[in-house]
Amino acid sequence: MLLEIKNLSVEFPGTPTPLVAVHELGFGLARGEVLGLVGESGSGKSVTSLAIMRLLPPQAIIRGEIRFAANDRAPQDLLQLGAEEIRDLRGSGISMIFQEPMTALNPVMRVGEQIAEAVRAHSLISRQESWKRAVEALREVAIPDPERRASDYPHQLSGGMRQRVMIAMAIVNRPQLLIADEPTTALDVTIQAQILDLLAELRAKFGLTMLFISHDLAVVSKVADRVAVMYSGNLVELAPRAEIFSTAAHPYTRGLLKAVPTLKTARGRPLETIEGTVPPLRDVPPGCGFEPRCHLRVPECARALPPLIEIAPGHWARCPVANRPRAL
Ligand SMILES: Nc1ncnc2c1ncn2[C@@H]1O[C@H](COP(=O)(O)OP(=O)(O)O)[C@@H](O)[C@H]1O
Ligand code: SF4
Ligand SMILES: [Mg+2]
Repeated sequence: MLLEIKNLSVEFPGTPTPLVAVHELGFGLARGEVLGLVGESGSGKSVTSLAIMRLLPPQAIIRGEIRFAANDRAPQDLLQLGAEEIRDLRGSGISMIFQEPMTALNPVMRVGEQIAEAVRAHSLISRQESWKRAVEALREVAIPDPERRASDYPHQLSGGMRQRVMIAMAIVNRPQLLIADEPTTALDVTIQAQILDLLAELRAKFGLTMLFISHDLAVVSKVADRVAVMYSGNLVELAPRAEIFSTAAHPYTRGLLKAVPTLKTARGRPLETIEGTVPPLRDVPPGCGFEPRCHLRVPECARALPPLIEIAPGHWARCPVANRPRAL
């Protein structure tokens, strides 16, 4: 395993009770694998990725382990690393791309220089050499005329091109793990498809391992080998992509699937949506978080959080009522 998360919980202090953004989360990522992490807004996806990057604000209370095997070394718990060690790892071992490149790019610095700076942060090379590497990275993400584009400022580029610049910056130091947090959410559909193709190409070329996060199961299904579904800070289902689509067990996953358009969806018929909304995290009931919206609920569901159970080899679900994989 390149990455192994065990019992990860993240709380933010609050009154009368702390807000539990992520609750005893666990999953692993094998080298070269793409794991899709899906769930509605507020389910704890970004908090999970920021915990891996050690970028959560200081008031966050983090428990558990995030084991990462950098460069085939024995796994280390990222939560135990010192500030300098984690800085070394960021960008070179693990890097991240975000939804909105404009907030991550420096508006008053040429994009080539921003990438070159990321190169120099991890190796002792000259400005000229790092600029060359930056141009090369822009070429790798298929930016046309990269020598010229490298001298552009972020505002001179389209949204899609800016996201390519972010990806160039993320891969320039050849990280082993790339975390992509809603990398296509801010883009229109055509550009979104191009960015997904690019990520698939880069994955094949560099053997990237990827944690791909999206609220959109249709997008996740295009890139992920396995899919993890989160609801209110809990992992509710985890399975190979094909199984999620053929035989999802958890009522929430099944609801998400019904909202995904497929070739079989009758034209003109509105897509189904899951009734109700995600409760504010402070109001999540003590039992299954999905209980207020679930058509299969029984009285026990509200009493205690159901355990995550392996219902078929490699297929886990947190619902004792729908505890076997079923065809949709
Ligand atoms: N810095 C923070 N302080 C307090 N609460 C936070 C903070 N960051 C995130 N949260 C809360 O944690 C929950 C999970 O957020 P997040 O991981 O961003 O969700 P998403 O799945 O949409 O990425 C949300 O309820 C959010 O309001
Ligand atoms: S545990 Fe109960 S409420 Fe939760 S998803 Fe399963 S049936 Fe529905
Ligand atoms: Mg998010």
